[in-house]
Amino acid sequence: MAIQELTKQVSRRRTFAIISHPDAGKTTLTEKLLLFGGAIREAGSIKGRKAKSYARSDWMEIEKQRGISVTSSVLQFSYEDFCVNILDTPGHEDFSEDTYRTLTAADSAVMLIDAAKGVEPQTIKLFQVCKRRGIPIFTFINKLDRQSKDPFELLDEISDVLGIRTYPINWPVGMGKDFKGIFDRRNLRFEKFDRANMEDFDTFKVSGPEDPQWQSWVEPDQWEQMKNDIELLDGAGDAFSPEDVLQGELSPVFFGSAVANFGVRPFLETYLKLSPSPVARNSTAGVVEPTLDKFSGFIFKIQANMNPAHRDRIAFLRICSGRFERGMAVTHVRTGRSIRLAQPQQFLAQDRTIVEEAYAGDIIGIHDPGAFRIGDTLCEGQQFEFEGIPQFSPEHFAKIEQKDTMKYKQFQKGISELVEEGVMQLFQPAQGPAETILGVVGPLQLEVLQHRLRGEYGVEITMTGLPYTSAFWMKGDEASLRQLQLFDCRMVKDMHGTPVGLFKNEWTVQRVRDQVKGLELSETAPR
Ligand code: G4P
Repeated sequence: MAIQELTKQVSRRRTFAIISHPDAGKTTLTEKLLLFGGAIREAGSIKGRKAKSYARSDWMEIEKQRGISVTSSVLQFSYEDFCVNILDTPGHEDFSEDTYRTLTAADSAVMLIDAAKGVEPQTIKLFQVCKRRGIPIFTFINKLDRQSKDPFELLDEISDVLGIRTYPINWPVGMGKDFKGIFDRRNLRFEKFDRANMEDFDTFKVSGPEDPQWQSWVEPDQWEQMKNDIELLDGAGDAFSPEDVLQGELSPVFFGSAVANFGVRPFLETYLKLSPSPVARNSTAGVVEPTLDKFSGFIFKIQANMNPAHRDRIAFLRICSGRFERGMAVTHVRTGRSIRLAQPQQFLAQDRTIVEEAYAGDIIGIHDPGAFRIGDTLCEGQQFEFEGIPQFSPEHFAKIEQKDTMKYKQFQKGISELVEEGVMQLFQPAQGPAETILGVVGPLQLEVLQHRLRGEYGVEITMTGLPYTSAFWMKGDEASLRQLQLFDCRMVKDMHGTPVGLFKNEWTVQRVRDQVKGLELSETAPR
């Protein structure tokens, strides 16, 4: 394919994930973005998929009809000349390691914050994963139509808690019932909030905060406050630097109200201008540019159908270079086999459709007969592998045993297949009799596991919760590892035999860090 066409296709693509704490408004924001793109016709269409609207037991039923969550894992829409992929990161009880891994497929992230609540725990976790990758992070502060924290306090919280500098692209005038709108600092525009006319907002050009027109829109004290705020931001705030945004060091901040569709379009338009198109990725053959004319991609998520009658698994592949064409033959690098991608699927809002062509930044779903693992590379031409997807530290642990010892084989098969799929991490005691210890990021994953072992492998298990809350991969000499016996931590090993310490609390972790010299503790497994 002509390089010009490839470059054009890559440069019009944006792939991002929205990171937020439950209830911050992710579903609402996603919906508004899809409405702009014409991918859905009415608000409320994606509401039904929300996990929190179901009781816990129903969740299993939903998972059985996996179609629902499969289609909502990636949403693609077009806006003007852009082709946008939004990756879903479940924020509710179904939060799992999957959520973290999905972030490895994104080129940027949108951090959504509830203006009344500020930075919340789940946002911190997801933010840290993005920060580790150094991807650009855009912030949307939502629900300004409600009484909120002071905007400066919110910015301070972002920089103190998350350690990232911010640059407010726009600034709110008033909040809650006195919310008047947002001032676009760079384009010198005022977008006026109107509660009576929620879908269509007027925008006015201004010469700056001193423009006399403000008098007709805002109260005198609000105008005064706004002038002071902007002066403070211009004088003492961080300067705007597109390079720092791309380096993930400066987060552009937008204020608005997703439910009122206010501030969403300016956010989307500025985001599209400032965010990166698909970036080059590291591989065993060096850096792979998205415009390389050979197709390549990696699998970041595998989702199995919970319905035992249809044991199909879908592997989600993030395309990193070249042009994907339906039916093309590629190499599955880990096994060296050639495979034909015959029925690739793409996820357009609610529907799965067969994809005919796709480019770097796009996500396609491919049928997995059980051949793929998380992190596998598929490519055309010269063979290489993309950098591995890190494993993330589990926070919930359990020991499991099969009830019927005659089913040992099925039990082993089930565990090893589910570990491959990335449902959980497996540990063995470092010494003593064999045990099956599992670690997961979200507690619901343990229930899913039990359900799936029963449904798909016919194995009943007993599960005993373990009191640990974190796992650390250890690197150190024998002497330092031996010293760990003095602490309240359980030594196990992961699937590759790497020593891992399971801890009950942060305090013990800190004591180990302080007192055991020459030992490195890492929250993620070495690659
Ligand atoms: P989530 O996916 O991040 O969990 O959040 P979701 O969009 O479902 O939003 C959570 C709640 O916050 C919803 O209310 C939603 O309507 C509300 N919300 C979202 N954006 C805004 C906003 O800008 N302003 C205000 N005031 N509320 C907002 P709910 O009562 O849980 O659901 P619903 O009955 O409104 O659907």
